[in-house]
Amino acid sequence: MTANEIRQQFLDFFRSKQHEIVPSAPIVVKNDPTLMFTNAGMNQFKDYFLGNTKSKWSRVADTQKCLRVSGKHNDLEEVGVDTYHHTMFEMLGNWSFADYFKKEAIEWAWELLTEVYKIDKTRLYVTVFGGDEKDGLASDTDAENIWKGIITPSRILHCSKKDNFWEMGDTGPCGPCTEIHVDCRSDEERAKQSGHELVNKDHPQVIEIWNLVFIEFNRMADGSLHKLPAQHVDTGMGFERLTRVLQGKTSNYDTDIFQPYIQRLEQLSGKKYRPEIEEQDAEALKINIAMRVIADHLRAISFTIADGQLPSNNGAGYVIRRILRRAVRYGYQSLNLKEPFLHILVEELVRQMGGQFPELTAQKDLVKKVIFEEEQTFGRTLETGLRKLEGYCQKGSAAIVNDSLKGEVVFELYDTFGFPIDLTRLIAASYNLKIDESGFETELEKQKNRSRQAAEVSQGDWVVLKEGEPEFVGYDQLETETSILRYRKVTGKLGDLYHIVLEKTPFYAEGGGQVGDTGLLRSANEEIEITDTKRENTLIIQYAKSLPENTSATFTASVDAGKRRETQNNHSATHLMHEALREVLGTHVEQRGSLVNDRYLRFDFSHFSKVTDEEIKQVEDLVNTKIRKNLSLEEFRAMPIDQAKAMGAMALFGEKYGDEVRVIKFGSSVELCGGTHVPSTAQIGKFKITTEGSVAAGIRRVEAITGAAADAFYAEQEELLNDLKALLGNPKDLKKAVEELLTANKEQQEQLEEARKKQATETKNLLKQKFTLTNGVNTLCERVDIDPASLKDIVFQLRNEVENAAIVIGTIYSEKPLVTVAFSDELAKAKSLNAPTIIKEIAAEINGGGGGQLFYATAGGKNPAGMDAAMQKAREVLATL
Ligand code: SER
Repeated sequence: MTANEIRQQFLDFFRSKQHEIVPSAPIVVKNDPTLMFTNAGMNQFKDYFLGNTKSKWSRVADTQKCLRVSGKHNDLEEVGVDTYHHTMFEMLGNWSFADYFKKEAIEWAWELLTEVYKIDKTRLYVTVFGGDEKDGLASDTDAENIWKGIITPSRILHCSKKDNFWEMGDTGPCGPCTEIHVDCRSDEERAKQSGHELVNKDHPQVIEIWNLVFIEFNRMADGSLHKLPAQHVDTGMGFERLTRVLQGKTSNYDTDIFQPYIQRLEQLSGKKYRPEIEEQDAEALKINIAMRVIADHLRAISFTIADGQLPSNNGAGYVIRRILRRAVRYGYQSLNLKEPFLHILVEELVRQMGGQFPELTAQKDLVKKVIFEEEQTFGRTLETGLRKLEGYCQKGSAAIVNDSLKGEVVFELYDTFGFPIDLTRLIAASYNLKIDESGFETELEKQKNRSRQAAEVSQGDWVVLKEGEPEFVGYDQLETETSILRYRKVTGKLGDLYHIVLEKTPFYAEGGGQVGDTGLLRSANEEIEITDTKRENTLIIQYAKSLPENTSATFTASVDAGKRRETQNNHSATHLMHEALREVLGTHVEQRGSLVNDRYLRFDFSHFSKVTDEEIKQVEDLVNTKIRKNLSLEEFRAMPIDQAKAMGAMALFGEKYGDEVRVIKFGSSVELCGGTHVPSTAQIGKFKITTEGSVAAGIRRVEAITGAAADAFYAEQEELLNDLKALLGNPKDLKKAVEELLTANKEQQEQLEEARKKQATETKNLLKQKFTLTNGVNTLCERVDIDPASLKDIVFQLRNEVENAAIVIGTIYSEKPLVTVAFSDELAKAKSLNAPTIIKEIAAEINGGGGGQLFYATAGGKNPAGMDAAMQKAREVLATL
């Protein structure tokens, strides 16, 4: 069975058990500050478990793209070294939201594995939760009893909280779990030692494939467990592991999920993937690990880029950049791939996975381009680092202490240039140097502490005053009567903050590029400032510096209307501009990022060359024409997605849309959008693009202003123009006046240059007469205070025109002392003269340094007062030639 067939069978099986098959959520998490990337299939269902909101279906199943590279679940260091951990993997899962529980979950899992997939029952073991005293939890006898009806009790193991109590993060939904493990060893090995002893022992052939979690609790910030209002099921099966078991392989990398990339890497590098000999052969092990790492990381990088996360220098983007660089380094170091190679593999990846994940196919060109550009930049960084490292290894370098490279230096190479410590170790060894390993560890630890401190925010538990979901009324109202549903305290670097959830709220939560609203929360006797509004899954959270004393009062929530109005101008203008860009540049233009606030709008989009001034003008004209047409807003709040698409609504990549969407239409501009907009376009006033540039490979960024900001911009331009006119004596024709000024200026420049040349010739002729001939050498030692460029011309002419010339000239120009030494070629050769050595001696008097060629050198200095002494020294030196 191919991997694609295995996946399909899973989905078909659960469809037959009345599960709705849903698409994978994007791998990049939006709207949940506790997560950067989706790390488990259940992330997108978190709110259903917590009871914050209700699901449309009570049973669903899917395959979810997961990434475990940060936070509580991080497998990065295992990847490639072993054969069954991955950064990005697919998690096959089935869920019950307050529907079926342990019995069905366990029985169906067993049925699928043994009857559909036909896995040999004698190879399967299961674990159940053995209880935990600290959490006050008993052993999961329910699960155990269900299993007892299915398999022999000797195949059931009791495990501790570490293995059999699943938690999404430090806080959040959790519960006891039961895991299914499979023993893939040969019959001979199985006869020697029971698989029972190897479960959960990191044996590469006895591995967990399916985790069935019975979600019953919410882990609170203080560590305690709260019973949830209902019981749920969350199962997750590693698709890559399952495929390996069903295809009878001993490694995930031997399945058809990874082999295509490994084979392509073999072609590109000319090296062979030989897992069978890696235990005896260190070189083979090195090559194998590199190929596994690259095959794994390729998927993680491509999927995140396709979901809208570009590599960058912070947050989630930085995690991706580091993974990408890790892959490139392995290629560079172990496979001798010195040119960009990773982007080449994208083609194969799309062939393999584009069917199940259409976003990958749609974003193929972007993914390739971004990876290629990153590879190139990193290649340059590696080269610079290499040069640096070689510099550090030179004899006498300050980076060496006791024949070892200092820890700080090794860390700098690691952190800034992406040098793995073993590469640094290897290069240092070629200079007979060691590296200060513990010094490096200390630096690493210091950095970890720094980022830990920077990130430290402690979030208290919600204090729930009333159950319920917030209702957003801010599309129609800027003010409303409301009450507080829940609040919590957040302590961070900038002091305390409160998160407040309101029953009804006019405050728009940051999303779709639009910033969150600010405003006031007022009760009869109190007034609280709302500084921001953000979304966390279904919760709309108002940020406030303080909490009302009486949290149960009735409040009036009012949005800062002026700020909202300017923000809406920018948001609606963004839509008009998006359409105009597609009209002027072509339909390849797609939104890649957007920021809309009350001051300006920023818009990133795919386009492969600079947008010319002419094109910008056309876009501005189109948008301004639409503004003046005063197009009315047509808003459709809950349109079925198919209907919206049929209307031509533009969807954004990396966004997850529900079955019903909100559609915003201004004339022919139609977009899926949750933001707030102007009632009609005339309110935008004026639209002006202020900057255009590049942000990444194939992605351009424009910034623009509207409304009051555009007025201010034009007022400023007008003022500037008036100032200029005044400066020029208020001429009738300003342009002509400036042109005349420029012409006059140019003529004067030319005259000046002419005069400079003439003066230089005169100076040269004068100097020519001052040479004295001693011992066949024509020496000249003079002080000439002219500009260095003219001086250089003169000296070069003199050394060509005067035979056997030895020239020293001292100059003080603009208070800076300068010495020049020059010889005719034949003299420099005949007497083996070295101008840089000679100038060093002379320039010492002016505190100077410099150099040049054997026949010509200059040195600038810091001490003009030493010029006389320098000239005296020059005369002495010249006398010895
Ligand atoms: N949430 C569990 C896991 O990630 C099962 O889906 O393992």
